[in-house]
Amino acid sequence: MITVVGIGADGWPSLSAEARAAVAQADLLVGGERQLDLVPPDEASAAERRAWPKRLTELVDELPALAADGREVVVLASGDPLLHGVGTTILQRLGDDGVRVIPAVSSFALACARLRWPASSVELVSATSRIAEIVVPALQPGRRAVVLGFGPTTAARVARVARERGFGASRLVVLEELGGATERIVESTAQEWGEREAAALHLVALEVRGDGPLLGRAPGLPDDAFEHDGQITKRDVRAVTLAALVPVPGQLLWDVGAGSGSVAIEWLRAAPGARAVAIERNQARAERIARNALTLGVPRLRVVHGAAPDAFDELVDGPDERPDAIFLGGGLRGSGLLTRCLGQLKPGGRLVANVVTVEGERVLADARAEHGGRLTRLAVAHAEPLGGFTGWRPAMTVTQWELRVR
Ligand SMILES: C[S@@+](CC[C@H](N)C(=O)[O-])C[C@H]1O[C@@H](n2cnc3c(N)ncnc32)[C@H](O)[C@@H]1O
Repeated sequence: MITVVGIGADGWPSLSAEARAAVAQADLLVGGERQLDLVPPDEASAAERRAWPKRLTELVDELPALAADGREVVVLASGDPLLHGVGTTILQRLGDDGVRVIPAVSSFALACARLRWPASSVELVSATSRIAEIVVPALQPGRRAVVLGFGPTTAARVARVARERGFGASRLVVLEELGGATERIVESTAQEWGEREAAALHLVALEVRGDGPLLGRAPGLPDDAFEHDGQITKRDVRAVTLAALVPVPGQLLWDVGAGSGSVAIEWLRAAPGARAVAIERNQARAERIARNALTLGVPRLRVVHGAAPDAFDELVDGPDERPDAIFLGGGLRGSGLLTRCLGQLKPGGRLVANVVTVEGERVLADARAEHGGRLTRLAVAHAEPLGGFTGWRPAMTVTQWELRVR
């Protein structure tokens, strides 16, 4: 059996009876140096102790063999092992069979308790991938967020991201070594915090204030929220397109011919845990997509510099890598690419294709005749000054085909 035991900064004394019993029966104790040090030498004295190697997943993958023949392996994790902890990695890689989890209080729960913030009113942001921009979608006036960090510079980098986007007035609370003897809580603002370092183990709590741009998570961000060269699905059409794609947490989108990446980026912002690949053959645009993803707080967007459909081959090496949704926004000359895309979709998948040319329309009309689906014409006009008056300036008419596969 593999038992994942959460342990707080207050260490052994606060462990539950169940957790202590699990540790006492261990043949092997695995954990970070810090967690292993929290178990007194006379507890689990018979157990071998192993610290995580540089590549944690190497030892994770070895765990089933180490737990064979009735051996008890106890993995120590900080706080709640399933809150962005090693418990999550273990379940992802090994499945849940033969795995038991005994949580301790998470650092998130401790932070909410210290701040007296009801947990349900707080967004949990994990910046453990070391990219502070991940906090950007939470930068909305009044929003409360607790950011899990990546070491002493987390607070300074989160503060800088908030400042750079016009939210320097935000309340910023740094919560160090929560639950430990050296716990320290420092009140500040994103502006005042500056570049100070904090303890290696800290959380950053933000209560957002300021007059930065109001960017929602519902699709349809203004076009100028993105860096682009004109190759962008415009705001109104983009909102309709994302409604048809249906962002769902955990699901994967391929944005084929991604241009500025706006559709993939909005897909990621709309559904936590959603995944996306932007495929773009133009190098400068591919680089721009990566910049847009960072600026808008979704650095997990995977950008593939290559041409569709050839680029598809490197994307699929397991059923989980098949897309749940595909967007074709880059124009269609023939039906070849469309057919290849339909072949890639998972059951229940959605394909949405937008075109502005007569030739493209013909491809979509034929596709609808063959497969069914919904064909929509989107004609948008915006009011603009005309002489001393106001006139309607029409955008190019977009024809959209939407299909859900079974
Ligand atoms: C990989 S996450 C794991 C979170 C953990 N599973 C939990 O429940 O608290 C690690 C990050 O959580 C935060 N963290 C964990 N324990 C903490 C503590 N006692 N005090 C402050 N921050 C803590 C730090 O930001 C650290 O970099």
